[in-house]
Order: sequence, then structure tokens, then C-alpha cells
Amino acid sequence: MSENEEKIFEAKEIIESCASLTVLTGAGISAESGVPTFRGKDGLWRNFRSEQLATPDAFWDNPKLVWEWYDWRRSAIKEARPNPGHFALAELEGQKRNMTLITQNIDGLHQMAGSKKILEIHGNIWQVRCTKCGDIKQNHRVPLEETPPRCELCGEIGRPNVVWFGEIIPMEVIDRSLKAIEECDVMLIIGTSGVVEPAASLGLVAKQTGKKVIEINLESTTNSPLFDLTLLGRSGEILPLLYTSHKVYS
Ligand code: APR
Repeated sequence: MSENEEKIFEAKEIIESCASLTVLTGAGISAESGVPTFRGKDGLWRNFRSEQLATPDAFWDNPKLVWEWYDWRRSAIKEARPNPGHFALAELEGQKRNMTLITQNIDGLHQMAGSKKILEIHGNIWQVRCTKCGDIKQNHRVPLEETPPRCELCGEIGRPNVVWFGEIIPMEVIDRSLKAIEECDVMLIIGTSGVVEPAASLGLVAKQTGKKVIEINLESTTNSPLFDLTLLGRSGEILPLLYTSHKVYS
């Protein structure tokens, strides 16, 4: 058995025997669905990095440019379907007494796969929030009819209902995430580079409060040495191996 196979075996035993699980996902889990990650080379758009566009300053400087970037991301996400990693997490939720899925992803693929208890800590790309009256509407049009889109109620420009760099995640969402970590036995951290706060620290909170923390990623991250186990590989291949009744999804 290779070292990684041994770790997968160990992780499977830990996950099968725990009653309560909290999961944190990042862009890596959706990579196999064709959604570009943020920090990989495919995350670049017209030579901009996400940190240059996903900010309130960038938006108010040039709302049209920022919306064109979101239009591009929405077109990639619209075609995407959940992969075996998303489905495995949805199935695992059905097997556990308590499982919360905290995601940094704004693509909605966990919902599409059937996960129920989800905290979208960075918002959702399919919602537009009015910059004046705060009204939030679902909007699935790709491409958008106009950039920026206008509020149906007050006519002011809308923004994506996501959390940008320099903005704060709503306190209630953070509280619920911390509570889920407090209540769990095991935390799984999947497909995140662990460089964006406060999500990056959630695994450390789990570790410091005595939980087992298992990471799944294509490569080691700066936080890997702090966790109990790091399984290297694609989440869509590893996750279905981590519980008993795994099925083959096409
Ligand atoms: N399986 C597992 N991990 C993968 C896979 C895969 N198939 N493909 C890529 N990865 C890993 C990469 O190695 C990387 O460590 O997923 C991670 C993705 O990291 P980022 O692109 O930085 O994404 P994420 O950590 O989710 O970014 C956090 O930053 O731009 C903001 O708000 C945005 O939510 C995002 C946040």
C-alpha cells in the first residue's frame, strides 16, 4: 500500500466512526466540474487576478469591468455540473447524525448535488444585490442583458451578492460556522489553498479545540503540517473512497 493509500484508509476509518462532521470546501472541489480555481493559472481573466477585481474599490472604479468578469465566471459555472466529490459529500450527510458543509464557493454545485445543511460564507454568484436599497434577486441570465444589471425596484446598479476582499462575512454566518466546528468530532478541509481569511483559520480553530482535521488537496498547503492527515489528489477521486457505500457516478 502506498503512503497516500494508507492515509486514505486511516481517513476512512475516522470518518466512518465519527457521528458529527464539519466540512469546509474551496474552489478545488469544483475544479473537476470545470469551474476555474482562483489561484491556479486557469483562474486568470484578461490578465487580472481575482484579488484585483473582487473588491469594493474595483467595483466602484469600474462596475462594468467587474460585472464582465462575473459574466465570464457565471458562463463557466452555468455549464458546470456536480462531480463525484460533491455527490460523495451529499451522500455522507445522509449517513451522519450531524453534518454541516461550510463552503467558500459561490457556484451552487453543493446544492445541486443534494447537500442540505450548507453555509455559503462567501455568498452566491446567482444573486444580485441592489447597491442602494439592498434588494436581493436571483438572476441566472448568461450573459447578462446589461452590465451592470439594474435593480427592478429602485433602478440603481446591482452588485453580485458575494463577499469581496476587504468586506466582512456576516457575523451570523461566522457564528454558525464556529458552532458547527465546536459541535463536530472531525473536520474535513477540501480543495482550498487556505490563504483567505477568515476561512483559512477555521481548520486551525478545529485543531486547537481538539478535533481531528483531515485535508484533501491536489498539493500541500501552508496549513498542511498543522493538520492530522493530508490526502493528496483530486477530491472527486478521493471523497467517494472515504465512506462505505460509495456508488459510481457517471
Ligand atoms: N481536488 C482537490 N484540490 C484541488 C483540485 C482538485 N481536483 N484542483 C485544485 N485543487 C486545490 C489547489 O491545489 C488549491 O490549493 O484547490 C485549491 C484552490 O485554491 P484557491 O484557488 O485559492 O481557492 P480557494 O481556497 O477556494 O479561495 C478562497 O479566495 O478569491 C477568493 O473568495 C474567493 O472563495 C475564494 C477564496
